[in-house]
Amino acid sequence: MHLSRCTRWFIAILAIVCLAGVFGWYKFFREVPQPAFANEGERFKYGSIGAENTRGIPYWIWLVLPRVFPDLMPGPGGYKSFGVVWEPGQQIPVGFSMKTIGFPRIANNCAICHVGTWRANGSDLPHVVIGSPAHTSNLQSMLRFLTNCAADPRFNADTLLAQIERETKLSVVDRLIYRFALIPLTRSALNKESTQLAWMNRPDWPDWGKGRDDPMNLTKYFMTSMPVDNTTGQADFPSVWNLKIRKGDGLFLNWSCDTPAVRSVLIDSALGLGAAPDPTVPLDTLNWKFVRRAWFIVRMAELDDYLSALAPPSYPFPVDAALAARGGAVYAQACASCHQPGQGRTSRLIPIDEIGTDRNRLDTWNQAAADQANEKVKEIGIIRPNMVKQQGYQSPPLDGLWMRGPYLHNGSVPSLRDLLKPVADRTKVFYRGYDVYDPADVGFTTAGVDAAREGWKEDTAVRGNGNQGHTYGTELPDQDKEALLEYMKTL
Ligand code: HEC
Ligand code: HEC
Repeated sequence: MHLSRCTRWFIAILAIVCLAGVFGWYKFFREVPQPAFANEGERFKYGSIGAENTRGIPYWIWLVLPRVFPDLMPGPGGYKSFGVVWEPGQQIPVGFSMKTIGFPRIANNCAICHVGTWRANGSDLPHVVIGSPAHTSNLQSMLRFLTNCAADPRFNADTLLAQIERETKLSVVDRLIYRFALIPLTRSALNKESTQLAWMNRPDWPDWGKGRDDPMNLTKYFMTSMPVDNTTGQADFPSVWNLKIRKGDGLFLNWSCDTPAVRSVLIDSALGLGAAPDPTVPLDTLNWKFVRRAWFIVRMAELDDYLSALAPPSYPFPVDAALAARGGAVYAQACASCHQPGQGRTSRLIPIDEIGTDRNRLDTWNQAAADQANEKVKEIGIIRPNMVKQQGYQSPPLDGLWMRGPYLHNGSVPSLRDLLKPVADRTKVFYRGYDVYDPADVGFTTAGVDAAREGWKEDTAVRGNGNQGHTYGTELPDQDKEALLEYMKTL
């Protein structure tokens, strides 16, 4: 066969383009499934939620940032100084997932906010509790660290590669890829994130601190295009175990009853983390060609099954059974109507005028934001019950309550003993995020030198941190309070 010179050139160029395409795909887009996890708990802690594609930081860059920028860290100990849970022998902390999409990337999953620890003594190894509020995590300081790194002139290829080379031997090609693509792209992605987060860095603005974020403002400014307003709504990470009791007609989730269905919370949380199901085809016509979309739906169903069945942790210290039984009667009389699953007001809206707690979190959300968020999710092609706007707070079931301190939606009350005190007698300033347990007051230790060193100072005078309201039980005789306190350990 005789080919003209022109055709030969054409074939040669086509071959080069194809090779370049395959090379580019291999180095930047080839998805390698994560290795299998021993069980769903491990997967919850370290499994991908699908965020690596949009939010993944190249592993080697992520690894060396604390070493290149120690002066921007809150303390020594690498990422652990942000209060994240780091289990012995693990390559990355709980709440982080590593997945190769072209190159190894690090992203976050639900566990960064929904796995916590407790210890009986400061010298013990922490017990890790899946589904518990991540009350030690200081997410805001980690976000600030990453964005501050990107804004620093030291975030350049020479400096970062010099550190990376101490950890691993990159091939010549990978070095070039890091130098000319991954390092500049990561820097500009983080700089963009920094602009998107400017609202939380306004002067004199309340900090989230450990165990909280500003969930509805994050939703507004990342998921919708609502303009930045003057609201602040720092909210505690809630527990996410035992979700089966959260399902039913008229039951709500999220602190201000913003969401009517478990599945909606899971989907919106995963989208918020950066999960990116393919945006072109409606999900109800499940099209298996769209691998990422199908994967996302299956993952959401599995997560729902897992968290629905996950048992709340039992109280690990002794309980006085007789006292607790007496407390059970007090609870049935004073608390059960709003907190016992199946009772008339549990997991439902308690109007703000009735509950009287700090209203800032409630005011961060509005109908226009709910409409936009619903529209956005529909555009992606996901069918889920819509978010709503209501005027009050949810009365949550109190399962696993001992592990959920500090209490109320803004974590403004350090212990269960404190919650049963009249508002004027509740602690005004305390340290949260120290995981040594205090069985006397039922909650984490929030005072003393160790709590002050490891914890974050919550001042209830700061906007959004108010500890007023929820005065149920505060007028009970002392012996009834003691009994109720004992009973609440068993929930
Ligand atoms: C960055 C921290 C963060 C991440 C990551 C996160 N959540 Fe949450 N989650 C929160 C906060 C804060 C709330 C409470 C929001 C509010 O104020 O209503 C919440 C609420 C929830 C609730 C409702 C609980 C209730 O009592 O109403 C569920 C369920 C939940 N999250 C599950 C998940 C799952 C599943 C993921 C992963 C796909 C996830 N979350 C990721 C912070 C987080
Ligand atoms: C009228 C309904 C109602 C009654 C009665 C009620 N609560 Fe509550 N409870 C709520 C609501 C609503 C919230 C959430 C308020 C907030 O965070 O702003 C809440 C929150 C709580 C929390 C915090 C949960 C967490 O995860 O931080 C505890 C603990 C609690 N209640 C205990 C009790 C006890 C004990 C009683 C009885 C002495 C009681 N409640 C009576 C409605 C009620």
